Amino acid sequence: MLEINKFNKIIAANWKLHGTSLFIDEYFKKFNNISLDSNVCGIICPPSIYLNLCSSKIDPFYLGSQDCSNFEKGAYTGEIGASMLKDSNVQFCLVGHSETRQLFGVSDNDIKIKSKNLINNNINPILCIGETFDQKENKLTKEILYNQVTNCMTSDSSNETTIIAYEPIWAIGSGLTPTLDEIEGIHAFLKNEITNYTNYKILYGGSVKSNNAKDILSLKSVDGVLVGGASLDPLEFINIAKA
Ligand code: PGA
Repeated sequence: MLEINKFNKIIAANWKLHGTSLFIDEYFKKFNNISLDSNVCGIICPPSIYLNLCSSKIDPFYLGSQDCSNFEKGAYTGEIGASMLKDSNVQFCLVGHSETRQLFGVSDNDIKIKSKNLINNNINPILCIGETFDQKENKLTKEILYNQVTNCMTSDSSNETTIIAYEPIWAIGSGLTPTLDEIEGIHAFLKNEITNYTNYKILYGGSVKSNNAKDILSLKSVDGVLVGGASLDPLEFINIAKA
């Protein structure tokens, strides 16, 4: 498993359900000779069917998966287990992305099981948490995040194995972001105020672009970003990684 604490900055791309083999060829051509500082961890999470294709082109970035099955093997048609991801050179895996929670009914307990399977297979989970706009308006953000973190972590979770990604649901794909003070406040709360969960690396996600990445990344309690839409443009993503 990668030692995530050796990195100062983590920049992750979530392609969601986008891409073709042609797109991937063109994308990585733009990465020609790109280098990242040794303390920067760049991660790309393509759709699972393209993990192997990306694996051969992805250096100096690491390969990530967008999800994994709750199950390791067996009669679970359509599923992909953590050991299969490891076999495809995957080093990180998103768990609990709000789209999987909201559209596919993934529960906190499912996320806990996925995290455990991933850690058992030496893959670092990136645990996504976030509140809806209504929850924010009702001042429930901290309570929601606290519950998500405590319900989804396993006894094997630690700041050496697991990364947290704070993604307000209302900021995803909307062009809206919390203010910088709000982001810093939430990250500081997650880092310092939830007992047992101190000093996790915490990424911010939700409408990150090259024009706001630098300000977000300069916040004291932000250790990186998780980028959706903007990561589909290789030059935009490279600019974010270099911000
Ligand atoms: P976005 O998505 O950057 O398009 O808002 C972020 C995410 O869903 O991880």
